[in-house]
Amino acid sequence: MPNPLPIQFQALDLDTLATAKGRIAVLAEPDQATSAGVRRLDRLTKGALSRAIGSEAFAKLKPGEALDLTYPPGIAADAVQVIRLPKKADQAQARKAGAAVGRSHGTAGTLVLAEAHARAADLAFGLAMRAYDFNTHKTGEKTAPGPVTMMAAKPESVARAAAPMAAVAEGVFFTRDLVNEPANVLTTHDFAARLAAMQELGLDVEILEEEELMKLGMGALLGVGQGSESPSKVVVMQWKGGKKGEAPFALIGKGVVFDTGGISIKPAAGMEEMTMDMGGAGVVAGVMRTLALRKAKANVVGLVGLVENMPDGRAQRPGDVVKSMKGDTIEVINTDAEGRLVLADVLWYAQERFKPVGMINLATLTGAVIIALGHENTGVFSNNDDLCNAFLAAAKAEGEGAWRMPMGEAYDAKLKSRIADMMNVGGRDGGAITAAQFLQRFVKPDVPWCHLDIAGTALLKSDSTLAPKGATGWGVMSLDRLIRDRFEK
Ligand code: BES
Ligand code: MN
Ligand code: ZN
Repeated sequence: MPNPLPIQFQALDLDTLATAKGRIAVLAEPDQATSAGVRRLDRLTKGALSRAIGSEAFAKLKPGEALDLTYPPGIAADAVQVIRLPKKADQAQARKAGAAVGRSHGTAGTLVLAEAHARAADLAFGLAMRAYDFNTHKTGEKTAPGPVTMMAAKPESVARAAAPMAAVAEGVFFTRDLVNEPANVLTTHDFAARLAAMQELGLDVEILEEEELMKLGMGALLGVGQGSESPSKVVVMQWKGGKKGEAPFALIGKGVVFDTGGISIKPAAGMEEMTMDMGGAGVVAGVMRTLALRKAKANVVGLVGLVENMPDGRAQRPGDVVKSMKGDTIEVINTDAEGRLVLADVLWYAQERFKPVGMINLATLTGAVIIALGHENTGVFSNNDDLCNAFLAAAKAEGEGAWRMPMGEAYDAKLKSRIADMMNVGGRDGGAITAAQFLQRFVKPDVPWCHLDIAGTALLKSDSTLAPKGATGWGVMSLDRLIRDRFEK
């Protein structure tokens, strides 16, 4: 697993600028006084830097965007990256600036001149996040990233501020690795093993096998996995950093390691994308990792339902009726609406066992949420304004798109079945909402709950500010912040 890019924090030493190899990144703003480092580099490069900063092109950049001076005279470095960043930049601008460095960071190494900038730690975080690379399946020459050195006026205080951020970056990377991993590697067994390995970090990890799930009555979850060679599993991860005996907050994730659709099989084109159908479970795992790494002062339990949805002689059929752990029966109209069947049982189990103070589930649940919101926002559904608003505020602060969607009885009525307590689909119209209604049937009315449909945000086909194309790790930052703000004050 690639670790977050390690960054060396050092005191300012301007005498090394002439000889530094690789790239040098500097911060500037058109109408603000240039820093000592920029002035020194400008002298060494015979005024190239001040020309760049005074240029029309630089004036057109947005905060956090950069311009490259390649092979400038007078210094050993191959390039100077001039980043537009005002002295009073906010967190998002500083992360974006760091991401500009991370995106172009190569094998020769990078020297970042953060100098006295107040947002140096955010810059480092953005850099590490964007430098992520999933290359474990590329053979041949591995291009290991070069070292990153950040020079700052107060390197110790920057390092101190960056330490908890490194825990977040590592959680995000854990999620991204899981989501990027193909399904022949990340089987239910392999997934569970990677979670069990987190016991080293102080998490309690239990793996519930099929026999146990059968005893618990998880007929909805087991029905989904019964066509696969990979056994279904529920993994429970507990972080007990809060007051002893205090009820935990629960995070629940859909972990469909591959979704063929089952007997209601999906079209061939694009089916390979369904390796990411464990994205909800991936985010839960990433958050648990971050909480453990930064020794969060909160009690949080993470539960994931790990299954594979395959067509097979033993697979469940459209029309089958299964019984959930709650006791309600479900007519499986479409075996491709499997995520909600998995979550129904894990949600119920979480409430029965842990009596959580609240819970949030994440799932790559519906294509319909992508039609509604595109790839910019996760669909947020909730039975509780207080928890929902707290989550939306956390997501906003972290720059992760999230948009609340409506719920209501009229949508719920679409799930009525002729022969069972409910159907697992409510039709094409409002498909993301009827899926949420289905989940809500397995949430006790007094438990504050949010459902996050991350089908559009877990994986992107193009680069985003903080991630190269592929898995984003959407939600790890927001959930970590929510837990910090709500339970650790
Ligand atoms: N895993 C899919 C949803 C999905 C679609 C995630 C695209 C990411 C990208 C889910 O299990 C599914 O197949 N949903 C169906 C539900 C339908 C059968 C009611 C869908 O959205 O088409
Ligand atoms: Mn499906
Ligand atoms: Zn699915």
